[in-house]
Order: sequence, then structure tokens, then C-alpha cells
Amino acid sequence: MTLETPTLTDIALDARHITRRYGAVVALADASLTLRRGEVMGLVGDNGAGKSTLLKVLSGAVVPDSGEISVDGEPVSFRRPADALQAGIETVYQDLALVDTMSAVQNVFLGRENLSTNPFLRALNVVNDRAMRSRAREVLAELQVGIQSVKEPVKGMSGGQRQCLAIARALLWGRRIVILDEPTAALGVRESKQVLDLIGRLRDHGVSVILVSHNMQQLVTVADRITVMRLGRSVATRDVADVTPEGIVGLITGAVPADVPTPEDTAAVVE
Ligand SMILES: Nc1ncnc2c1ncn2[C@@H]1O[C@H](COP(=O)(O)OP(=O)(O)OP(=O)(O)O)[C@@H](O)[C@H]1O
Ligand SMILES: [Mg+2]
Repeated sequence: MTLETPTLTDIALDARHITRRYGAVVALADASLTLRRGEVMGLVGDNGAGKSTLLKVLSGAVVPDSGEISVDGEPVSFRRPADALQAGIETVYQDLALVDTMSAVQNVFLGRENLSTNPFLRALNVVNDRAMRSRAREVLAELQVGIQSVKEPVKGMSGGQRQCLAIARALLWGRRIVILDEPTAALGVRESKQVLDLIGRLRDHGVSVILVSHNMQQLVTVADRITVMRLGRSVATRDVADVTPEGIVGLITGAVPADVPTPEDTAAVVE
């Protein structure tokens, strides 16, 4: 039997001892998270535990007070969202930032349109519509995102289709890490499944995913590992194979002892 120790390159993203305060509020007290290449990491915790703040730190939207982040073993410092994008990290926010009046194609290429291959047209900044449409169709087909016409405005699309489109955008742009904050929160059962299936296909493409969800059943279906946050700290990480949905809830509430005690636990012991 050979023992497999993860090498540096198995780790897509590593965040260590991240802290972030908002005045007197400690949003992140000491949060750490390791994302392996090609895995889906579920991030869970009660309301206000610091999940969204940690995601914002990893996507460059919030600058931490302290802590270290590395991508593919290289230390990084994200001062703005463009820094994280450049490091290959795409974040899909819940409001999605899709433009209703634009088509699926225009939305996936938003802000980074293919320039025409003709140098004269390129100079005039004319968008190469046909190339864009065919590449968008290719990616959407690859991900099996069931969109009728990539040319129609997205305003007629369902919530699930819109979510899938936003996720497909990440793959189209070759991101290696995709961050999703409660992507199924506003969706019905069938649409949620569509999004979860898509997350599975992202993983099949070698993309690493961080997924925040309050739905334990969904998480144990789609995630490989789960990190639990409590009061701004990451208190436990488990392989999904080793936990039940009830066990995760226990770690979230404190009914099941975590690996890192929080001040709350310590107070309980003292009393
Ligand atoms: N911009 C901000 N200004 C002030 N306080 C903030 C800000 N952002 C977050 N916080 C506070 O930081 C803490 C963590 O918030 P965060 O949104 O990260 O929690 P969460 O785990 O995502 O919760 P939820 O499950 O409700 O989405 C909360 O107490 C929150 O009120
Ligand atoms: Mg949140």
C-alpha cells in the first residue's frame, strides 16, 4: 500500500489565519481553508459565521486585516477583484450581474468581448459576434446548460438557467477556481439539481469549487469535503464520506465538538 501525501501542487488555493474586522464586529477571527485541485469544498456555518466575508476575501472584494493566501503554492495579495480574476478565481455572486436585455452570448462575454480578427475592425473595437456565439454555444453544450437560444435576451430565462449561465461564464474564461455563494438559495428543487449537476461537471473539467450552502442534503451530494465556520473561525474540516447531514449541523451549532474550540465553547466549559 502506498501512502499518498498531498504535494504542494495538489493544493489549488490555501488561505491561512485570515482575520477581518468591521469596527467592533469580528467577521473573521482566524479562518483557514484549503482547496484541493478539482474538488468541491462546501463551506457551512450559521448566519453571520463569516462565510460570505471569507469568500469576499478570496475574490478580492474585501481586503483582510491579516492572514496569507496562496494560489498554486504561490503567495498572492488581492487588493481588488481584478487581482483574484487574474489569479484564475471567478466568483458567482447571488445577484449574478447578468444584463437582462442582453443575450446569453453577450452575457458570457460581458466586458471581455472577442475582438474581431480583422485588424482594421479590431482597431474600431468591433466585436466578433459569430466567433463569440460559436464559442459560447460550445461551452454551454459542453456543460449541458439547456438554453434554447443563445441569442435571445436572458430576461425570459429561469433562475436555474441564469445561475448556470453565470457559472458557464467562469469555465469559458478558463478559471481554475470557482466560488459560489448560496447558488441554489432562490431555486426550486429541479433548478437546484440543474445547478448542482453543473457544479459536478465543473469538477470533471478539473475546476476547484468553493460552495456556500445552508442545504446539508445538497452539500453531501455534491461536495468532497466540508469546512465548518463558527463565529469567524474555521473550526472543522471533514471528508463528506465521514459525516452525515446531522453531524454537520452538530458541528455548526456546537453540539458536536469541533477541532478548534470557539470562545463560546470555552465559556461553556468555564461555567
Ligand atoms: N460590510 C460589513 N459591515 C459591517 N459588518 C459586516 C459587513 N459584512 C459582514 N459583516 C458582519 O460580519 C459577520 C459575518 O458576516 P457574513 O456575511 O460573512 O456571514 P455569513 O456566514 O455569510 O452569514 P449568512 O449565512 O447569513 O450569509 C456578521 O456579523 C456581519 O454582520
Ligand atoms: Mg453569507
